[in-house]
Amino acid sequence: MFNFKHFLGKTFALLLLVLLIFYVKPLGTTHANPANDVDYSKDVIYQIVTDRFYDGNSNNNPTGSIYSSDCSNLHKYCGGDWQGIIDKITDGYLTDMGVTAIWISQPVENVYALHPSGYTSYHGYWARDYKRTNPFYGSYSDFDRLIEAAHSNGIKVIMDFTPNHSSPALETDPSYAENGALYNDGNLLGTYSNDPLNIFDHFGGTDFSSYEDGIYRNLYDLADYNLNNGGIDTYLKDSIKLWLDKGIDGIRIDAVKHMSQGWQKSLMSEIYNHRPVFTFGEWFLGTGKIDPQNHHFANESGMSLLDFQYGQTIREVLRDGTMDWNGFHDMIQSTSNEYKEVIDQVTFIDNHDMARFSVEGSTNRQTDMALAVLLTSRGVPTIYYGTEQYMTGNIDPENRKPMPSFDRSTTAYQIISKLASLRQSNPALGYGDTEQRWINSDVYIYEREFGDNVVVTAINRGHSNYSITNLSTSLPAGIYEDELDSILSGNNITVNTDGFVDSFTLNARGVAIWQYSKKSTTPIIGHVGPMDGIAENTITINGEGFGGIKGTVQFNSANAAVQSRSDTEIKVEVPSVPAGKYDITVKNGDNVASNNYEEFEVLTDKQIPIRFVVHNAYTDYGSNVYVVGNVSELGNWDPNKAIGPMFNQVVYQYPTWYFDLSVPASTTIEFKFIKKDSLGNVEWESGTNHMYTTPTQGTDTVIVNWQ
Ligand code: NOJ
Ligand code: NOJ
Ligand code: CA
Ligand code: CA
Repeated sequence: MFNFKHFLGKTFALLLLVLLIFYVKPLGTTHANPANDVDYSKDVIYQIVTDRFYDGNSNNNPTGSIYSSDCSNLHKYCGGDWQGIIDKITDGYLTDMGVTAIWISQPVENVYALHPSGYTSYHGYWARDYKRTNPFYGSYSDFDRLIEAAHSNGIKVIMDFTPNHSSPALETDPSYAENGALYNDGNLLGTYSNDPLNIFDHFGGTDFSSYEDGIYRNLYDLADYNLNNGGIDTYLKDSIKLWLDKGIDGIRIDAVKHMSQGWQKSLMSEIYNHRPVFTFGEWFLGTGKIDPQNHHFANESGMSLLDFQYGQTIREVLRDGTMDWNGFHDMIQSTSNEYKEVIDQVTFIDNHDMARFSVEGSTNRQTDMALAVLLTSRGVPTIYYGTEQYMTGNIDPENRKPMPSFDRSTTAYQIISKLASLRQSNPALGYGDTEQRWINSDVYIYEREFGDNVVVTAINRGHSNYSITNLSTSLPAGIYEDELDSILSGNNITVNTDGFVDSFTLNARGVAIWQYSKKSTTPIIGHVGPMDGIAENTITINGEGFGGIKGTVQFNSANAAVQSRSDTEIKVEVPSVPAGKYDITVKNGDNVASNNYEEFEVLTDKQIPIRFVVHNAYTDYGSNVYVVGNVSELGNWDPNKAIGPMFNQVVYQYPTWYFDLSVPASTTIEFKFIKKDSLGNVEWESGTNHMYTTPTQGTDTVIVNWQ
């Protein structure tokens, strides 16, 4: 009789030999640059609060009232720096954990002043000069060495970036902190109380009562930028290009809910035309919060978001016990529809703005289980520094304590390390969809699948063992060992030819992960990045089975010029086609077509931010004003794709309506305003279309009367 187990064993041994021969060499050599800056699906990000990670150079530590040498005052600088990160890269702490990207604090110069409440800018969110470094983190040459150390160890570097505000300020009290002062490589541009260039908004602080209020009023006491001002627009865009030229591989954008989507889309266009890198924004959502504007932003702005729905839900299920797996699976299903590219959203179990996942005095098992789920879920997983050491601490600043140790033997560290390498080797984790295979309030068994690659995760958060019967899976017949080597009490399973798994016991508080990997021989697209661009921009397509150098790539039916092509990655140019949404398809040399990767947005031209203002637009209660026009960015005259609802409370007031839009540069635009009621009934302006030619760069405001 054919012995399947024996056969598998032999095949594995052979495979191992082949792997050893082919892969030992490339792994041993150093990479000049991490492979791919637009696809993070297979990566694990490690979030570092630079000041709190490791002090590698005590000579750059602050002196005086802003420094706490023993870090007993968590509001002050504690000495961590880029040299410290370099040290932890070169000593193997990050690479052994399997980390392939680090997200570091905003690297730019921050205020030096002590905030009236005793706070400092150790966190990097209070910029004063985006073209200089924070000297307490290091110099430009230290930053160059950080990039170099990271890249030569296969690690991408993501920087935090705050284009919403400078620093704490009070209009009436110039002596409050540094009064929001902003410098351009040493030259003062303005302060909040003395703002001749009009680079700041002056509408007071937000009460968070509306989206509009949160955009144009100050977030807490932070001096808000007037992004409609050409000077600050250019300054911020030049600044991020400076850091892109320094070699960063990704950007985390702070407080994206507090800036117009239009300006941010123009920022993304600037980045994608300079050097495309994976970019994700922070749109905070509290526990149980779902916000359609958050989904719209993730789908249309050109950047991804931190996935707070995911983060808050996993905390409810595994930390707080306020939800069960059914609620978790509902979130997995709904977000897969709400986000067009759910695999590009950035997942986490904790961060610097919420209590740490591990709870003082409780078992670490809940953290271990959460990490196993995080690292096998859809989305780009992020580990907050110290979670692997089971650090505890309530919300800011207790959640930002210094690293207690760099112990590589913790169970959490082992889990991250094993699953980070599984994310690299099995593309089901990066690109696959998620299917629920077995569920009750305590047990969740889910399958990720991409082509012939399958990963199944089984978790039992309950305190008693469960007997699992009638589990079926896409894993081919065979015996599967737990990828976690039973460190979370996982078991092996036997899958039969009909796909059913022999009954087994899933241990209490246990996690088991089983996987199968086989390269597809026909094309299958897993990821496209970026997902918008103008003709001739380079787009990177990743997946499997693309075949040799022969074959085509199409945007709908238009062929795209191929720049490079391998079995798993193709770089193409966006074809010269009318602006709009396109599905991307790869065909191999035998003309076998892949899945369609949907809704790539071809833009009319490079985007710039323009404020549209219409006076005297009187509406009935519940009706709103929108703008629609003759370019794709303005909905191609389709009222269902009109941009808005426009605003009418802060910068201008009803019956004047305004909105900051992202529109193509150097383009003559025809447009009209429309009124829409809650049922979707549309009232058009009368008369001829408004006409306006956009500038080649910078910003502008176009003001008309409702006609
Ligand atoms: C969100 C950041 O994550 C938080 O830590 C910061 O204080 C605010 N934005 C303001 O920059
Ligand atoms: C009255 C208008 O009729 C309504 O449409 C608008 O939303 C409110 N004013 C608030 O500005
Ligand atoms: Ca230091
Ligand atoms: Ca703002």
